[in-house]
Order: sequence, then C-alpha cells, then structure tokens
Amino acid sequence: MKKKETVFVCSNCGNEFGKWMGQCSACGEWNSLKEVKSLGKPINGNRAGKNFGGPREVKKVADIETKNEGFINIISTEIKEFDRVLGKGIVQGSVTLFAGEPGIGKSTLLTQLVGKVGGLYIAGEESAEQIAIRVKRLGLKAENFDIFESNSVEEIEEYLNRVNNLYKIVVVDSIQVVGCENVNGVIGSVGQIRESTFRLVQLAKKLKVAMFIVGHVTKDGDIAGPKLLEHMVDTVLYFEGEKNGELRILRVNKNRFGPTDEVGIFKMTEKGLSDVSQADLNLVSGEGEKVGSAVTVLMEGTRPVMVEIQALIVESFAPMPRRVFAGVDFNRGQLLTAIGQKSLGMPLYKYDVFISVTGGIKVDDTGADLAILAAMWSSYKEKPMVGGVFVGEVSLLGEVRKVKFWEKRKKETEAMGKKLIEIKNVKELK
Ligand code: TYD
Ligand code: MG
Repeated sequence: MKKKETVFVCSNCGNEFGKWMGQCSACGEWNSLKEVKSLGKPINGNRAGKNFGGPREVKKVADIETKNEGFINIISTEIKEFDRVLGKGIVQGSVTLFAGEPGIGKSTLLTQLVGKVGGLYIAGEESAEQIAIRVKRLGLKAENFDIFESNSVEEIEEYLNRVNNLYKIVVVDSIQVVGCENVNGVIGSVGQIRESTFRLVQLAKKLKVAMFIVGHVTKDGDIAGPKLLEHMVDTVLYFEGEKNGELRILRVNKNRFGPTDEVGIFKMTEKGLSDVSQADLNLVSGEGEKVGSAVTVLMEGTRPVMVEIQALIVESFAPMPRRVFAGVDFNRGQLLTAIGQKSLGMPLYKYDVFISVTGGIKVDDTGADLAILAAMWSSYKEKPMVGGVFVGEVSLLGEVRKVKFWEKRKKETEAMGKKLIEIKNVKELK
C-alpha cells in the first residue's frame, strides 16, 4: 500500500487530519483545512532524531549538565513598553512570533527594536533601501543595524551559520514571504509557512539568537494564520489597534519565560511608535452624556483605559434581527443582548443591535458588561445615561458584580472628575 504523503492542516488551529473536512473538528472553523505535504512526524516531534541512528536514551535530570545554573540571558529591548510585555526583556535563543494585521505597525516596532539594540533585519517584503529610509527617518542608530534581503530559508541558514554569533537579535519580516526548497506549494502556503518556521526555530536554538518572526493575521484565514505556529515558538505577541486610530496594544498570548497578563501600549506618531501617558488612555470625547453611549474603564494589563461604548438599537425589518458587535466578542454580545431582553424588558428579538467601542479597542474585560447594557438601554429609551461611569460584570440573572482592579478603576474615574456607578442589578439602570 502506498504511504499517505499529504495531510490536511487547519490554518486556524494547526491540527492535522488524514482527510479533508468542511469544518475543522478541533476548533470548529469552516473551510480552514489545507492540503500539505506530510512532515512524517508531527512538527514538534524532533525529526533530527533520525540522524542519530538508533533509539534515544532517557536522561536523568541529575546527570544533565546545566551550564550557568539556570541563569538565562535577558536582553532589554530598550523600549519600555516592549520590555513590560516580555516580562523583563528578550530571552537569548528564544523565538517570538510577532503577529498582527497588515499595516498595524509590526515592521515599525521591530525596526525600532533593531535600531536600539542592534541586530539583523531579514527583509522579505521591503527592500533594504526602504528599511534604511525608515531607520534614518525614525532617528535610530544605524551602525548596528544590518539588513539581509532574502526570501529563502536556505539563504538565511547559510548566512547565519557562516557569521555564527554575530547577532543577538534577528528579525524575519515576514514568515509569509520566506519559503524553503524542499516543500511543495507557493511561498505563503500553509505547508511552506510551517516548514519555514520549524527550520527558523531550529536555527535560533542552535545559534542561541533571539528571533522575532513577523506573521500577518488575515481575517479570512486563507493564508496560514499565526495560530498554526503558536505551538512551535516560545512567545506569541499580538499587535492590535485600529489603523486610523493612534493607539496600539501589544498583547502576549503565550510566554514560556514570563507572565501573559501585561500589555504594552503605544501611540503611532510620525516618529514611529512611542510610549503613552495616562491622558492618552482616555478615549472618551468630552461632550458629556449622549443617547446610546456609556463610559467604562477597561483594564489593559494593569492600566486603566477609559472608553466609550456606543449602541444603536433600531427596529428590525430582517427575518433575523442583526447583531453587529465591533470590538466586543460576538458571544458576549449575544449574551448581553439576551440579558437586556430578559432583565431590562427590551423586546430585542425585533430590533437590530449594533455595538461599538471607541478607539478601536477590543474589549476583553467583563467589567464592560454593565456599560454595554447601559448603552443599549440608553439607545432603546432614547435618553442619555446620566450620572457616571459604568463598570461591572453582569451575570445571566442580571446581577452586577464587582470586577478585579475595582479600586484602580474607581481612582481613574475620579481622576477624570467622574463617578463610578454602584448598582447591584441591571434593573436599576431603568
Ligand atoms: P508598518 O510597520 O509598515 O506595518 P506592518 O509591518 O504591520 O504591516 O506600519 C504601517 C503604518 O504605520 C503605515 O501606514 C504608516 C504608519 N507609520 C507611521 O504613522 N509613522 C511612522 O513613523 C511609521 C514608520 C509608520
Ligand atoms: Mg511590515
């Protein structure tokens, strides 16, 4: 019997299947399975093992030589917000996936990183000249900034092996445009991205260089989403924000060397990405209370950010009323719509519900529940919600609960000259 040579890989979650399916049975995503050449063993299995000829031995921890006794070399990024996200700084030999939508500022931030710390920038998308222009325009040190134009993993391997320990930091921009020879498929295909990442990870570990791999996130999942790569790397960073807005948030999704609950907050300026002040984190336009609007204080890591939630509740003429939530998780939005119907008595089954959050912020904080319901109620009743700022998680029964960092949010609210509304049940919004 002929050995199976291809597998089907979900471009959303990275699971492998023997046959094609319309929906990934692991993550539930539709149309995400792509055919790729089988790697023989799973990608995180050590395929290099076969070179040793013979079975591997089990080692006892006591017998393993640990040089420098658990001391890990940490390099500061020299960018305050970047260090904050990573814990302390960049761990030597670690591989970080740096993901985000095109145009969000990935190349800008990583150019700033190499400009400050020194390193090699592998340019697959832009020419060396374009990058040099950016480096100079941003006023960065140019002496320790090397650029290598390449779209080939083989070339990258050859060069880095040749110069050996010349660099502490290497940026690959982006994984979608580097490929390798021994894999079928065009550059950017799932198979190519998987194999290229695997090889780059091996190279970084071998040379002990800290590597940043840029990955574009696409909404349609047609190009392999970074999810596919998450299990191969040590750290996964997501850079988000609204392209038209100023604020950018760097989140850490996975971190083998530090916490994942801190975020970096930046401002995109004509001089690149810069730190923010607390005043920049007030995203509320100061015109007072409006119909369909409620203000809340979100926590981004350990910092309070004041945002406005807007709701539009309009009579629906569609067979299925529409639910459109920008910046609010769809399921959370559905749930709050149901709570609004039950606890506040809004007949939302015949109304379209639109919700949005100012500043392109994605709400990932149940503390915004109360504000979302308040904005919905305000729009439905066509009267502004007067009296303050809404913070609280809402239960299925409509009870309002205090959320973490309560005191911090309260202090921020008061610093802005406002008052935190304290209610026990959403019914009190009426
Ligand atoms: P870029 O870093 O190229 O995005 P990505 O690599 O994630 O695709 O940044 C793109 C946007 O950033 C671009 O539209 C212009 C803006 N920008 C500034 O506003 N200021 C700057 O100093 C730079 C370099 C870019
Ligand atoms: Mg770029």
